[in-house]
Amino acid sequence: MKATCGHIFACTSKSERECFDRMLFATSRVYGESVLKIKKGDLLFLLNLDTDTLYGTFRAKSAGAKDLVPEAWNGKYPYQVQVSRNGAVHSLAGAKKVLSGMGLSWRDTLDGEQARFLSQYIENPDGKAIIKIAKKDVIEDKPRLESTTLWDYPRQSYGKTQKGNNKYAGVTPAFVIYNMVKRYTEPGDLVLDPMAGSGTTIDVCKEEGRRCIAYDISPTRPDIKQNDARKIPLADESVDMIFIDSPYGDNIDYNDKPGNIGKLSAETDEFYKALDMVMAECHRVLKPGKVLGWLIGDQWVKKKFTPVGFNVYEGLSKYFDTVDIVCVARRSQTSNTGLWHSRALRFNFYLRGFKYLFIMRKPAAGEQALKRKISWTQYPRR
Ligand SMILES: C[S@@+](CC[C@H](N)C(=O)[O-])C[C@H]1O[C@@H](n2cnc3c(N)ncnc32)[C@H](O)[C@@H]1O
Repeated sequence: MKATCGHIFACTSKSERECFDRMLFATSRVYGESVLKIKKGDLLFLLNLDTDTLYGTFRAKSAGAKDLVPEAWNGKYPYQVQVSRNGAVHSLAGAKKVLSGMGLSWRDTLDGEQARFLSQYIENPDGKAIIKIAKKDVIEDKPRLESTTLWDYPRQSYGKTQKGNNKYAGVTPAFVIYNMVKRYTEPGDLVLDPMAGSGTTIDVCKEEGRRCIAYDISPTRPDIKQNDARKIPLADESVDMIFIDSPYGDNIDYNDKPGNIGKLSAETDEFYKALDMVMAECHRVLKPGKVLGWLIGDQWVKKKFTPVGFNVYEGLSKYFDTVDIVCVARRSQTSNTGLWHSRALRFNFYLRGFKYLFIMRKPAAGEQALKRKISWTQYPRR
């Protein structure tokens, strides 16, 4: 059978045994969509990240699917494929170096030729030169999934179609929403954006197969409904994720609609009271256990700094648990010009270089704080 694709699954020393016992390879939601593309007969490899050993070659015995064996790994890795041996199984030590020498990463989907080459190499690496496999054209122009809490993007949108409108003042980087959607939702889930602006959330969700409800006080397109985010017309516990990039104060003139929170100064209580009402509504409509992402930046104006981010975080903490706090680099704001940079130095102030992305979770019903025991592993510096 000629494989059309190849896939490298990752495991740890803890999860490796179960892969072989069950002849099942699996991954978590973030890589779930590549697993769903696996067809019967595709070539598969297993990389133990702890020991840096690559095992191969296997064939997909089933198509990739969700929950083939729901109880495997206690449900931690629901995207799975059943595998069979493709002849004898070989192991290759120092795998990451070999893969990178070939110009591959274990996160790549390999085309048929790459997969066959890797299979041959693993069978008999002796004397075989590591040949750099020409990187195929990127099939999908998708952003990378972030693994740290520092996110930095060169532009607002990605892919073949524009997400949102990069001319809209205050438009959100689509990369941020992509990462939230991929990490915290499943295909078909319902995402809410109560302050949708130019509709970036709608466009990202559409491409990723998520449903989206978008509102704004002043809609810019027909798929955004008019609504004040302080009263969201949805049932309690009805949405799977919320993304919100609210006004950061009155620095941007969004529109003149009554109720526009972007008319309130971030130096006033009124601004935080308005946002508190939005937070309460977000909490009400979000399903327990699900996540909200809130993007916000600080303010420095007329020699006064206002910690808008800290204030908003304090508000959110009343309703939600914290999953994490991400620093999103600000690149495309209008003050990112030579003139403003030189002013910042001449007059001794700083331009805003980042925004906060607060990733918050609504606790599940009856959830108790877990007793925690931490034993740190000390890794040598490299
Ligand atoms: C930072 S922008 C959102 C940008 C959007 N995520 C995008 O990518 O285009 C903030 C939005 O909040 C909206 N807004 C302000 N007050 C609102 C309110 N009370 N209810 C709903 N939307 C509001 C503004 O009209 C503006 O479009």
